[in-house]
Amino acid sequence: MSPLDAALSGLWLMVPALVPNSAAVLFGGGAPIDLGRSWRGKRILGDGKTWCGFFGGASAGAFLGLIAVGLSEMFCAQGAWGYGDFPSSMAVVVALAFGSMLGDSVGSLLKRRLGVDRGGKVPVLDQYNFVVGAIALVLLVDSRWFVEHYVEGNGLYGLIAFLVAVPLLHRGVNVIGYKLGKKDVPW
Ligand code: CTP
Ligand code: MG
Repeated sequence: MSPLDAALSGLWLMVPALVPNSAAVLFGGGAPIDLGRSWRGKRILGDGKTWCGFFGGASAGAFLGLIAVGLSEMFCAQGAWGYGDFPSSMAVVVALAFGSMLGDSVGSLLKRRLGVDRGGKVPVLDQYNFVVGAIALVLLVDSRWFVEHYVEGNGLYGLIAFLVAVPLLHRGVNVIGYKLGKKDVPW
């Protein structure tokens, strides 16, 4: 696989991890995950992390992942563009989607400990919390899949493309969310 193919497939396979964050903004609302509780004078997660956002976002990512699995099967089936065979492909998709939202929640936990209020900016952490969560969970669930696609061969091109694209996509989507009135701040 050429470096360009590796970069593009690296982005494609991360779709289930990319979607949840943006989808959470649309599905968010209602009870916060920490139910309003504080620890040592600071909220545990804050009002920006809700159950609806968590499960709505993760489900949206898993659902689009399912579609991506179907498309991969239809057009190129196996190989570097695929998520693997059923049912391990399902495990990968679900791990990427839920890992993404878990990472997002852990990011907020860290922000609150650092004394940053809900919506406050913490560069790098804000953009990569879900990346770390998705990669961590997929490594736990199917490390072989990650190594095969993002380490071996030209896989590192895919990983680099993904890591470079993330802050750009993140910013773009948040500006749209802000303009639509779904977000209070454009970051
Ligand atoms: N959201 C949600 N539930 C989640 C994640 C996100 O409801 N589990 C919604 C919230 O409305 C949130 C918005 O998506 O305000 C944007 O998400 P994010 O930027 O991650 O949250 P912030 O409000 O910036 O809060 P934090 O400082 O904790 O990151
Ligand atoms: Mg934010």
